[in-house]
Amino acid sequence: MDTWKFYGITHSEHVVCNPTSEQKLGQLVDLMQLPTDAHVVDIASGKGEFLICLAEAYGVRGVGIDLSPFFVAEADRRLGERLPEAGISFAQMDGAEFEPDNQHSFTVASCLGASWIFGGHEGTLDALVNMVAPGGWVIAGEPYWLREPPEEYLLATGLTSDAFGSHIENVEAGERRGLDLVHTLVSNKDDWDRYEGLQWYASSQYARAHRDDPDLPELLELVAKDKSAYLRWGRETVGWAIYVFRYGSA
Ligand SMILES: C[S@@+](CC[C@H](N)C(=O)[O-])C[C@H]1O[C@@H](n2cnc3c(N)ncnc32)[C@H](O)[C@@H]1O
Repeated sequence: MDTWKFYGITHSEHVVCNPTSEQKLGQLVDLMQLPTDAHVVDIASGKGEFLICLAEAYGVRGVGIDLSPFFVAEADRRLGERLPEAGISFAQMDGAEFEPDNQHSFTVASCLGASWIFGGHEGTLDALVNMVAPGGWVIAGEPYWLREPPEEYLLATGLTSDAFGSHIENVEAGERRGLDLVHTLVSNKDDWDRYEGLQWYASSQYARAHRDDPDLPELLELVAKDKSAYLRWGRETVGWAIYVFRYGSA
């Protein structure tokens, strides 16, 4: 089935489409204390929650980039509902093709939960560093291994053991690029269970309301596979954090 349709359905109940709770995302927004002339780029912006919250809190300008037509439409809808006059917009395009008008021009460059766009965490940090001005913020949301991933888990998910680093390796990847780690938002089991559980719930709701959808068997099979891998191994194996870095001095 169409990938974007799959994620659109499984994430229909989410506001934040990663294992960070809305409360923790709010803490990050509060922490940042951005000036009103701040300029933000959020790669893989999902439903636009991070960008919209920053615009609500500080009146920032910005752009969100996402490849999913479902998520871009939803981000536009939310923006229109909450902040129609804001100087932010969402564009449907591949994040890897996003070229800022000028390098090192944004106050904040973020990518929460889509580091594959740049070939992994290190490539994502390189891309974000190129976008952000000195003194600015580089914010990366990334999984990390809580333990050596069991072979069965790797087989079930198709992941490889080098897909992620450990928590400290994710931090050190930023430090090697001259970034200063100023904060982390680490998800706990509640956050993870909510993130995963909302996908099961959304799929179940969808199945009840769309019994004739020819994609339904495949959708339910994929969700069941992910659910089993999470419950058997993932819950004890994969962590998630938002790494909050500053790039040099202003
Ligand atoms: C885990 S979600 C995170 C969304 C958002 N950052 C959030 O935390 O709510 C991953 C996002 O990456 C987007 N995505 C996947 N591949 C992409 C690409 N090549 N370019 C831009 N966005 C992409 C998906 O549509 C989805 O919105």
